[in-house]
Amino acid sequence: MKKAVAKPKKTAGRKPSASPKDKTAKTKKLSGKFLDVFNRVKVIAAKEAGAEAKMLEICWLLNSKFPHYNWAGFYIAAGDRQLVLGPFVGEPTEHTHIPFGRGICGQAAERGETFVVDDVSEESNYLACSMYVRSEIVVPIFVRGEVAGELDIDSHQPRAFTEEDRRFLEKVCGHLSAIF
Ligand code: SME
Repeated sequence: MKKAVAKPKKTAGRKPSASPKDKTAKTKKLSGKFLDVFNRVKVIAAKEAGAEAKMLEICWLLNSKFPHYNWAGFYIAAGDRQLVLGPFVGEPTEHTHIPFGRGICGQAAERGETFVVDDVSEESNYLACSMYVRSEIVVPIFVRGEVAGELDIDSHQPRAFTEEDRRFLEKVCGHLSAIF
């Protein structure tokens, strides 16, 4: 059963998830490079390998195919409402354990929603990993209706993440719930 969560404060620079009533976001098909990379994600997910190896390969794939994805990594939800850093590609981060509610990752986990932050300098509840990061997207991964993990992408470009990035990454995460 889905837990009730407190209504978040509005913060400048943040785009909420598409409304559940907005079916276009969920049904619109991927195209071009997004479709090609999504198909490669499906191949990786189907491999005879452990979940960690698959996640790391997906991080490499995303980081190498999209120049605006400067840091790509997974956080895994532990039982105590904490996110624990999993496989990632990019600069090492001190944020290896993030409580639900803290930072962009923690807020996405608490709300069970994708967070897109166009300008991290305008987000008050933000945990900085690198001074070069300008925008960020965090997409939850659900298992049986609960947040089991997240995919976090940082960009050195402001406003790097379009609706198509969001749709693509939500499809990737929807597919990855099977490997969690
Ligand atoms: N910026 C994130 C922390 C994780 S790093 O980006 C890798 C946040 O605010 O939750």
